[in-house]
Amino acid sequence: MPAPEADLAKLETVVNERAMPPKLFRLVHWTTGLRTDDQRALLDWIASQRRAYATRGVAPEFANEPVQPLPDSLPTDTGKVAVGRQLFNDVRLSADNTISCASCHTLSTGGVDGKKVSSGVGGQLGLVDAPTVFNAALNDKQFRDGRAATLQEQAGGPPLNPVEMASRSWSEIIDKLKQDSSLTQQFLTVYRDGWSGANITDAIAQYETTLLTPSRFDAYLRGGQACAE
Ligand code: HEC
Repeated sequence: MPAPEADLAKLETVVNERAMPPKLFRLVHWTTGLRTDDQRALLDWIASQRRAYATRGVAPEFANEPVQPLPDSLPTDTGKVAVGRQLFNDVRLSADNTISCASCHTLSTGGVDGKKVSSGVGGQLGLVDAPTVFNAALNDKQFRDGRAATLQEQAGGPPLNPVEMASRSWSEIIDKLKQDSSLTQQFLTVYRDGWSGANITDAIAQYETTLLTPSRFDAYLRGGQACAE
């Protein structure tokens, strides 16, 4: 078990700033304090512990850097991604068939709606502005206050949120989706146990897991050539 990341960061600061032992103590015991080789040994140990947290594929020389490369892709099920893409863009998730996830998370505008606060069904205003869905798969937790642990749990919020998509229940949504025979056929191919809120949110989460934006800088952090521009 490596030491917790937060503890490593605290220790690193203390070692770098030679903050221990405290100044007052050192005034009296002036031969004490970290020697340079102690400091080096501690920083090496921190770096070795940190390797356990390094992003997969990062070049060894960048493994101990705070900025880590985005992955090119994450494991997903292609069939579920295809269904999830449709559901993400499907207004039938909303009570009056006017709003989809994409209405507030428009991919062509950076995965956001560009508004100060998002507006839901009937123009109702939310309390915060929409964060992007790009790279959300890499978030430790979802929502600004971290109230959803996973993308799937997050996707369960908006459809039944009265100021967002305002549907009353999953069965209300599923009754509409079921009438779409082509979508239902695709859905049942990848979700043998049929329509359910859990499967719908799983498909959407699978799709969102593909919304990554690795750049040439990330390729560089993975050990590629330095970017020219
Ligand atoms: C009415 C606009 C609206 C709709 C519709 C909407 N969202 Fe959001 N979304 C938001 C807002 C606003 C937040 C931030 C809320 C918060 O943090 O409390 C958010 C947060 C998120 C997050 C968390 C991102 C992060 O960085 O924490 C994800 C992921 C997300 N939405 C995906 C979806 C999906 C999937 C759907 C469809 C099922 C959806 N949204 C529908 C406005 C919307």
